[in-house]
Amino acid sequence: MNIGRLKLVYFSPTGTSKKTVEAVAKGIGVKYSHIDLTMPEARKHRFEVDELAIIAAPVYGGRIPPTAAERLRRLEGDATPAVVVAVYGNRAYEDALLELRDVAVERGFKPVAGAVFIGEHSYDTPETPIATGRPDEADLEKAEEFGSKVKAKLDGFTRIPELAVPGNRPYKERRVVEPRSPETDPGTCILCGMCARVCPTGVVTVSDAVETEKVGCISCTACVKNCPTGARHWEDEGVKRVAAWLNANYSARREPEFFL
Ligand SMILES: Cc1cc2nc3c(=O)[nH]c(=O)nc-3n(C[C@H](O)[C@H](O)[C@H](O)COP(=O)(O)O)c2cc1C
Repeated sequence: MNIGRLKLVYFSPTGTSKKTVEAVAKGIGVKYSHIDLTMPEARKHRFEVDELAIIAAPVYGGRIPPTAAERLRRLEGDATPAVVVAVYGNRAYEDALLELRDVAVERGFKPVAGAVFIGEHSYDTPETPIATGRPDEADLEKAEEFGSKVKAKLDGFTRIPELAVPGNRPYKERRVVEPRSPETDPGTCILCGMCARVCPTGVVTVSDAVETEKVGCISCTACVKNCPTGARHWEDEGVKRVAAWLNANYSARREPEFFL
């Protein structure tokens, strides 16, 4: 099967899913374009049958984030081959890859391969490191290797057999938590607006102070990771507890897995 065009599709608030699929694309070795679904204004997009889509999302609570699922539903495939990639913070991916595969099928794609990779956990801090710095060089090498295997697989056949990936249906139930969001320290905040610019749900506004609508915050932590002065941070006890628990129980290095 010949790849006419390669398109990278991702919802990636803290950039690890994006970085990972760029390395997969490098391994496939075809020029690519980006369809970034991270921001609210992500547009509808139609795919052709001769294209290959690499569709990536992070794992939130063993699932894909509802915001990612909603934005993926703006896509329309035309029996377009797709590679599904879930990126998780070294705890577990549970039903996320299966859910991503299922959404892809629902939107008219034909999944040809899947993989899970590890990304620095959104709740990683210097006090509670969780997969700090991942994907690292070794991960990116594996992502390239996965890409070259996908290419070899596509070269090898004309009709795409059904792809099986791990996970269960019904998917793991989403945990309901009280609305919460990061806080801003007015002493160090320079009102640059970065937090508002990187917020995937548009709940941060900056004028003479930073305001966040807690309802609608998906806890992705993009605002914290991108804050140039460190003013944006979590004070929420629940998040701090989870970060400490992850650090204590999920520090042993997990490795990427391929499903081809
Ligand atoms: C709300 C939330 C829930 C998460 N749930 C999980 C999880 O269930 N398992 C896991 O290993 N990592 C989990 N993570 C970590 C992310 O999957 C990880 O940091 C990923 O690399 C983020 O991708 P991105 O950089 O593309 O946004 C979670 C992160 C957030 C913000």
